[in-house]
Amino acid sequence: MPKQDEQIQRKVEHLFLAEKYFSDESYTGFDQVRLIHDALPELKTSEIDLSTDFFGYKADFPFYFNAITGGSEQSKKFNSELAILAHEFNIPVSSGSMGVYFRLPQTKSSFTVLREKNPDGFVFANVSGKANLEQAQAAVDLVSANALQIHLNVIQELAMPEGDRDFNWSDNIKQIVAGLSVPVVVKEVGFGISKDTLEKISNLGVKNVDISGFGGTDFAEIESARNHDLDLTNLDLTSLSTVESLIESKAVQSKLNIFASGGIRSAFDVVKSLRMGAHAVGISGLALHHLQKYSLDETRIFFETMALEIKIIMAAIGAKNISEIQKAPVVFDTDLINYAKQRNIN
Ligand code: FNR
Repeated sequence: MPKQDEQIQRKVEHLFLAEKYFSDESYTGFDQVRLIHDALPELKTSEIDLSTDFFGYKADFPFYFNAITGGSEQSKKFNSELAILAHEFNIPVSSGSMGVYFRLPQTKSSFTVLREKNPDGFVFANVSGKANLEQAQAAVDLVSANALQIHLNVIQELAMPEGDRDFNWSDNIKQIVAGLSVPVVVKEVGFGISKDTLEKISNLGVKNVDISGFGGTDFAEIESARNHDLDLTNLDLTSLSTVESLIESKAVQSKLNIFASGGIRSAFDVVKSLRMGAHAVGISGLALHHLQKYSLDETRIFFETMALEIKIIMAAIGAKNISEIQKAPVVFDTDLINYAKQRNIN
């Protein structure tokens, strides 16, 4: 079978394996973080403002549909549904990796559907760390993207027998950040990022990072299920949970705009991420699960409920807007305090 077909096949397998391994429980660490309510919040729920700025674009909610897919017929269907919901909610939506488009231009419509169904909204293009500036700009232009995500997926590549083995990506990232027409977000794909790596990323001129931590979609598990010769699931033992990654990011939050993702399951996870310094929160596996297991209508209802719950939690902790969430009291359990101490993070 030609390599191109294998790539598309891989994209299809990712969709159904993500669903096969989806769990309502996640291992993100959010249960080790407590928000403390305010018994006298002095606010009306009607004045709570969830609007969130994405590079000058005003979205209605502090969450967005993070990178998932592209390249196959199934991808086109999911991208279409995600774009419809992103349009209705007025939140950003991201494309899955667009690398396949450079090799197979006939996959174009699986990506451009994101812009067709969401003509005035915010769309992220998405490429891997091995993409050069020219490819990154072509990806942005294809969907008239408002920003570009560059994904770092070393563990995933290592878990794939056909995966990349050359991870010299810094020069590409530096050139893309310097030359691209839109802002850049560097993101992980569910294994988290340490403060040391965040420093390295910052030194490339990057200003925005999605720490995409461990606890939800696990590509070591997914790729090991596709690879019958080697089981590299344990590679995920080197990862940092979403909460640990947010703790790691504390050291660089003054110079990096942090996005959180990885295993987001509830309104509480969204609010806790914001409290820990995230600017906004990305959701992949949960959205894909609802679209695959239920329907577009039921997915819409699920996210409407989540949005309402975010507002209710904000009222409980006395936060009228997203920046006030960042001042709400929070308590970490001893495991997290111990983690921060060993990592020299205050
Ligand atoms: C992803 N993710 C992803 N990320 C990326 O930057 N480019 C991509 O092409 C993909 N592809 C992809 C496929 C599927 C099926 C899933 C579920 C996810 C990773 C995603 O954006 C996110 O970083 C992780 O999935 C962690 O978040 P969740 O899924 O736990 O919410």
